[in-house]
Amino acid sequence: ATGQTPVVYGASDRPPRGDYSRAREDYTCEQNWAAYTATDHDTYHRLYQRQSAQLPGLASQAFIDALPLLGAKERIPRFEEVNERLYKATRWEIVTVPGLIPEVPFFQLLANRKFPVTDWIRKPEEFDYVVEPDVFHDLFGHVPLLFNPVFADYVQRYGEGGLKAERLGACEMLSRLYWYTIEFGLIREADGLRAYGAGILSSAGELPYSVRSPEPLRLPLELLRTMRTRYKIDTYQQTYFVIDSFQQLFDLTAQDFAPLYEQLRGLPEFTADGRPASEAATAAG
Ligand code: PHE
Ligand code: FE
Repeated sequence: ATGQTPVVYGASDRPPRGDYSRAREDYTCEQNWAAYTATDHDTYHRLYQRQSAQLPGLASQAFIDALPLLGAKERIPRFEEVNERLYKATRWEIVTVPGLIPEVPFFQLLANRKFPVTDWIRKPEEFDYVVEPDVFHDLFGHVPLLFNPVFADYVQRYGEGGLKAERLGACEMLSRLYWYTIEFGLIREADGLRAYGAGILSSAGELPYSVRSPEPLRLPLELLRTMRTRYKIDTYQQTYFVIDSFQQLFDLTAQDFAPLYEQLRGLPEFTADGRPASEAATAAG
C-alpha cells in the first residue's frame, strides 16, 4: 500500500479494491494466506521470475542484494517469515492492509517503522498492469530496500514528515517527494544509472524505460524542484529525479520542511514533463 488514496493513485472516483471490513482501526489486518489460490501463487511466481531476470544493470545494487531476503519466490511469502529477517536487519516490520489506506494512518505506520503491504494479488489478465498496488508491487517493489539501514531510516522520517505536512496542509507537496523517490527514484551508481523506486522495480516496462530511454527528463534530486513537479499515475514518468546515494537522500531531507512549504506556495509548478505549468496552460489555450 502506498497510502494517500486520492493523492497518489487517483482512485478517488471509485472505492479502493480490497475488503476493509476485516481491518482494525489502524487499517491493518491479518494476511489471509490460506485464501490464496494456486493461480495467485503462480501469478506471484511468474511476476517474480520476469522481474528478477531483468534486474542486473537496471536495479540498484542494494535492491538486488536484498531481494533474496524476501524468501519464497515460487509462492507469495508469509509476511511473518519476511518479518523475522527484516526486523533483525533494520527493526522494520511489514503489516498487512486490505489495500490503499488514507494518508494519516499511512504516515503513522511509517513513522513507527511498519510498512503496509496489501495482501491481494492481481488477476492473471492484469499481469502487465494493475491500477492499484497489489502484494507484488508492495512486497517485491518496496520491501527489499527496507533492509538497507539508511533507506529504512529515510522512510521512517518520511512518515514523521507526513504527519507534520498534514498539520501544515502540505501533503500534496510532500507526496511528490514520495513519488519521485520511494516510488520512481533513480540512483547514480559506479556502473551507471539504476532504479531504486518501487513503482519502477515492480514494472516490467518502466524498469528498462526509466534507466535507458532517451525520452524522459532526468534531473538531480532537488527538494523545491521535486515538490513543484506534478506527476502522472497512469503513464511511465516523463521526469525522474536522480540521487547519488541513499545518504544524500537522507541528508537532503533532514531539514525542517515548514519554511520550504511556505516558499513553495508562492512558486509555480512544473508539469510532469518538466514545463512550467503556467506555460502549459497557455499552450493548451
Ligand atoms: N525533514 C522533513 C520535515 O521537517 C521531514 C521529511 C523527512 C520529509 C524525510 C521527507 C523525508 O518536514
Ligand atoms: Fe508503492
